[in-house]
Amino acid sequence: MRMPGSTIKSRQTQPVQTIAIAGGKGGVGKSVVAANLAATLGSDAHDVLLVDGDLEMGSIDQLLSLHPKHTLSDVMSGHSELSDIVLQGPKGVSVVPSGSGVYEMAQLSQVEHASLIGLFSDLCTEAEVMIIDVATGLSESMLSFCRAVREVIIVVVDEPTAVRDAYATIRVLHEKCRTRRFRVVSNKTQSSCHGLDIYSALVDKTDQTMDVLLDYCGSIPFDPQLKLAVCQQQSVIEAYPCSPSALAFRKLGARVSRWPQPQTPCGHIEFFVERLIQTAEGTR
Ligand SMILES: Nc1ncnc2c1ncn2[C@@H]1O[C@H](COP(=O)(O)OP(=O)(O)O)[C@@H](O)[C@H]1O
Ligand SMILES: [Mg+2]
Repeated sequence: MRMPGSTIKSRQTQPVQTIAIAGGKGGVGKSVVAANLAATLGSDAHDVLLVDGDLEMGSIDQLLSLHPKHTLSDVMSGHSELSDIVLQGPKGVSVVPSGSGVYEMAQLSQVEHASLIGLFSDLCTEAEVMIIDVATGLSESMLSFCRAVREVIIVVVDEPTAVRDAYATIRVLHEKCRTRRFRVVSNKTQSSCHGLDIYSALVDKTDQTMDVLLDYCGSIPFDPQLKLAVCQQQSVIEAYPCSPSALAFRKLGARVSRWPQPQTPCGHIEFFVERLIQTAEGTR
């Protein structure tokens, strides 16, 4: 596996907003939200880097009809450079694909995750926003990516297990990474009130036990056209731009665009290798 110190050309010119899309439970819509938020921001004249951070079972390539020859597993085995695996996705979106079913990628150590994330700091990209779709569960890769970014979006749906898993994700990120601020998106909702109810259920659970801030970022309705777009391997923004979910993604994109940008050009991802290896003393 590739270790820190690899030679990739560096051009760190501008601060980059870094966002991880997490949530704990599988099937809640993390990958769909990551792909469509990226497509929304890309269509809105932002340069976006969409990273498939589900190193074991990546799906972003499938969601966007991409056919990668090489993926992050080739980067980790030293057979490809990170810059060589970047693909062109929807308008304005560059995609870093992950493999699916590569056993070794499920076994990466904390240092190897740090090494992988360190490579992004040196990637030559014009991206203003980097969105990372992270894996289901409480894996080391989920922790490493969420620790490395400035913003964590928690995707949650109206199921007791989804709320519980979202809570568990928040608790673990708070304990292990000292993350204090989380953005919350309710998905597959029936109405805007429904979205707020799901958010309130999560707030009730966390308020009792943790000193964290949950910022509600709105809801994405349950939308058969979004399902169709998934089957057609397109973003709903492109396939059905007037559908309810596409409109909701536009609202979410506008909201994300208003979040404060990092002030310093500290690289394309906030943390560097040393900081990942240390026990986190996060400052977010
Ligand atoms: N808002 C929505 N409306 C309808 N179907 C949705 C919505 N969000 C997600 N889905 C469906 O849920 C499935 C699982 O979503 P996915 O993003 O793969 O979940 P995760 O990444 O959290 O495991 C998608 O394939 C899609 O069919
Ligand atoms: Mg996923």
